[in-house]
Amino acid sequence: MPFDHNDHYHRLLLRTIGRASGGTGGRALDVGCGTGRFARRLAAAGYTVDAIDPSAEVIAEARAASGTGDGDGDGDNPRYRQADITTTALPAGHYDVITALASIHHVPFATVARLRDALAPGGTLVILGCAPESGPVDLLRAAVAVPANAVARLAVWTRDRATGRQVPAKPPVAEPTLPLPAIRRQAATLLPGATVRRKLFWRYLLVYRHPR
Ligand SMILES: C[S@@+](CC[C@H](N)C(=O)[O-])C[C@H]1O[C@@H](n2cnc3c(N)ncnc32)[C@H](O)[C@@H]1O
Repeated sequence: MPFDHNDHYHRLLLRTIGRASGGTGGRALDVGCGTGRFARRLAAAGYTVDAIDPSAEVIAEARAASGTGDGDGDGDNPRYRQADITTTALPAGHYDVITALASIHHVPFATVARLRDALAPGGTLVILGCAPESGPVDLLRAAVAVPANAVARLAVWTRDRATGRQVPAKPPVAEPTLPLPAIRRQAATLLPGATVRRKLFWRYLLVYRHPR
């Protein structure tokens, strides 16, 4: 039953980005774009989007889902590229917005320094991240999240059955290993001033604004 925790937060992410950037559009990079659902929402919101993922399979699916062209040429938006964020060359000081949805735990957290350096002055990095559950706060949260998740899954399943909507392919997943306190510590060093907040459905939201 496909209630996708990342998709659930798309509207929150777009609001967060809009508030941070003044909703003016600009250049965006989506890291670990999977089949491109959020990259397409960024493009629809007025951004010129580069979207990267090392999986040839999901990049092919993202391109197929693009309305125009093959999604990898000049003028295509989003422009999808098969690439690894830890090694691919990123233009310095270039992007107004960088997003990473459920992908940063696939790479060393310090990779955020590459993303920071690719932000234009005043640009915003938004990470919807995954961290392992630990401690009483997470237990309490799970007590609310588990039943809420069951209700949301049932609602999505019912809607999909009624509309005949095809369930999208699942991109590669990995178990998160870096706990939230360690993420906060590393963020404080690498992304000074970043905020990190837990969200209900096993995600955290990190927002960093690059100095102007
Ligand atoms: C759980 S999926 C999330 C996909 C998408 N962001 C979404 O919200 O549906 C994690 C994605 O991170 C990608 N990924 C893994 N290692 C990566 C790397 N080194 N650089 C960029 N993306 C990576 C995976 O291929 C996968 O598509």
